[in-house]
Amino acid sequence: MSFKLLPRPRPPLLSYSRSRLSRRWNSASSFDPHKPFTLTSSALPEWKPGDGVSKGLSEHDDSPRKTWILDEMSTKDSYKLLTSAIIPRPIAFISTIAQDGTPNLAPFSYFSMISHNPPLLSVSFNLSPRRPKDTRENILATKEFTVNIISEHLVEAANATAVEAPADVDEWIVSGLTMEPSLQVKPACVKESLVSMECKLHFSHDISDLKSSDITNTLVLGLIKQVHVTKSALTESELVLDPAKLRPVARLGGNTYARLTDAFDIPRPAWKMVRDAVQTLTKRQSIE
Ligand SMILES: Cc1cc2nc3c(=O)[nH]c(=O)nc-3n(C[C@H](O)[C@H](O)[C@H](O)COP(=O)(O)O)c2cc1C
Repeated sequence: MSFKLLPRPRPPLLSYSRSRLSRRWNSASSFDPHKPFTLTSSALPEWKPGDGVSKGLSEHDDSPRKTWILDEMSTKDSYKLLTSAIIPRPIAFISTIAQDGTPNLAPFSYFSMISHNPPLLSVSFNLSPRRPKDTRENILATKEFTVNIISEHLVEAANATAVEAPADVDEWIVSGLTMEPSLQVKPACVKESLVSMECKLHFSHDISDLKSSDITNTLVLGLIKQVHVTKSALTESELVLDPAKLRPVARLGGNTYARLTDAFDIPRPAWKMVRDAVQTLTKRQSIE
């Protein structure tokens, strides 16, 4: 086996907080575009009902817990804590059009799938008193948007569109990405994205600060009307995406992103397979 020496990484050209980034960059190794997507076994493939966790597998076995009361925290700190704890988050790369016709593109990681019947996704906009979120304004005004999945090859372009540009600036130009006309909604899909979803506004709800009643967030549910997938990212079934080909990127805390390079299967337990073991454990617990 031969190992290729990778060039020293270069700091990103668009760096918003250089001093903190540069410390991290000194210890970061280069991005390996050829890193394979590997299917492994799970950590404890021999696990049986009642086993809990294996002592020694986690390096945190003996660490005490630190506890926060969220009511007593600043919003800045709760943002830092929660966005680093609820990870990895998928990222919705959202394309909208303002009422004056200006196209808009920005990434959002308060994003999830809600249901497949009806096909709904959710995205939440954090509102600052400083400036509105153009994506939120456009969705509420036009009731249409597209959600595009971010793969490794377009993460820099997507990240660049998070720039706080004036509402009349077209972030598509910043990104260098290509508009592909949608079929059921006016906002374009991102051509380079391997998955694009055309959505119509299904529901929106403003969320307020519990003390001041100022609106701090808006939750939007999008009804997915049409999905476009690049054929080469599909498995042989031609219906299911292959994660090894999709190469999705997730958001962690701070400015950190993550890639998916390892996965494992764990079969869903059937009650009849675990019933006897669970009954034995229950009897044992009631005796103790
Ligand atoms: C990876 C990533 C994820 C983000 N997730 C969110 C989010 O979930 N909600 C939010 O309000 N802002 C989020 N932001 C910030 C917005 O992208 C940013 O405020 C952007 O300027 C909004 O653009 P707009 O005003 O054109 O809608 C995120 C930024 C990045 C880089």
